[in-house]
Amino acid sequence: MSKLITINMNRKPIYDIMIENDFSQLAEKLKTLGYEGVKATIVTDKLVGPIYADTIKDAVKDVFSDVFVYAFDAGEQNKNMDTVQAILADMVENKMNRHDLVIALGGGVVGDVAGFCASIFMRGIDVIQIPTSLLAQVDSSIGGKTGVDFLQYKNMVGAFKMPKLVYINTNTLSTLDDRQFYAGMGEVLKYGLIMDASFYEWLLSKLYEIHDKDAATLEEMIEHCCICKQRIVERDPEEKGDRALLNFGHTIGHAIEKYKNLTLMHGECVALGCVAAAFISWKKEKLSMEEYYEIRDMFVPFNLPISIDDIDDEEIMKLIKSDKKTDQNGIKFILLKKVGKAYIDKTLTDEEILNGIKEIHFVEDGE
Ligand code: GLY
Repeated sequence: MSKLITINMNRKPIYDIMIENDFSQLAEKLKTLGYEGVKATIVTDKLVGPIYADTIKDAVKDVFSDVFVYAFDAGEQNKNMDTVQAILADMVENKMNRHDLVIALGGGVVGDVAGFCASIFMRGIDVIQIPTSLLAQVDSSIGGKTGVDFLQYKNMVGAFKMPKLVYINTNTLSTLDDRQFYAGMGEVLKYGLIMDASFYEWLLSKLYEIHDKDAATLEEMIEHCCICKQRIVERDPEEKGDRALLNFGHTIGHAIEKYKNLTLMHGECVALGCVAAAFISWKKEKLSMEEYYEIRDMFVPFNLPISIDDIDDEEIMKLIKSDKKTDQNGIKFILLKKVGKAYIDKTLTDEEILNGIKEIHFVEDGE
């Protein structure tokens, strides 16, 4: 059942992604990486920590001289500098030093915050990622993006900090609630749309197995996503080019997430953003009408939204324009040429984007 994917940079292996169905291989791998005898801080949140922190501590008890746990309140609203400061203070208190290790245990927020703490503590110490949500397992734990939200901006402060290991235990998905699971499916479908048409077809063909959370299907799906991510981050680790394709659905998605004050999940907003971006791709005559409707309707069986009421289109547009990825050269928008092929478009007019927002804005008859 075990799978291993190695991330290489300039033809040199940088770190492994291990896909397992328990934590039994973790201690041995940490020893191989040379962490015997050092101290470790498990950074987690107050939802994941109570479920897995003791299991991890137990699994690594023969590796480290000391293991500390720092759990912060769960949720994107805590992905900020206050949380970073509290974690760093705890690490100082525990006399962590530059040979010690941060273990990020949790979903996307935990991975981003813990990775960022590791990147700045004593000018940078090692971090390993143990992602426990589908979204983190298929995307955010891989590729070294870390950071926090700052002022009104998402991910405004951060660093590229490659982990020394990504250890995925697919069994942790059993403790995710359905809403979190399907939110992660938004990012899974994204890979098919932007870079792999046959994966997209495979996902549609495995709908029932995915709903049933069939272990072999989920493992194959996660492995495939990790390989997609590997292909992109090896080519463009610091998002100077193609890595931006991973932001498909995120321009409008982030704006909705912010407009809704984080009451919708990231993956749900990404699904809405993908539908809007596919619509714009149709209007730009890149996709046919049939392709657009097929893409839109594909999100439905995965319990993801394709429209939203109660938004103000102009406000969403303003939020897009205030996003840090909007520079003087225009909004960097990811569109589709076809299923499995995305491209970067910086030429969209406000009207074209607004029409995309209107397409996903559900208005009751008579309103
Ligand atoms: N989650 C997008 C990226 O890693 O670039």
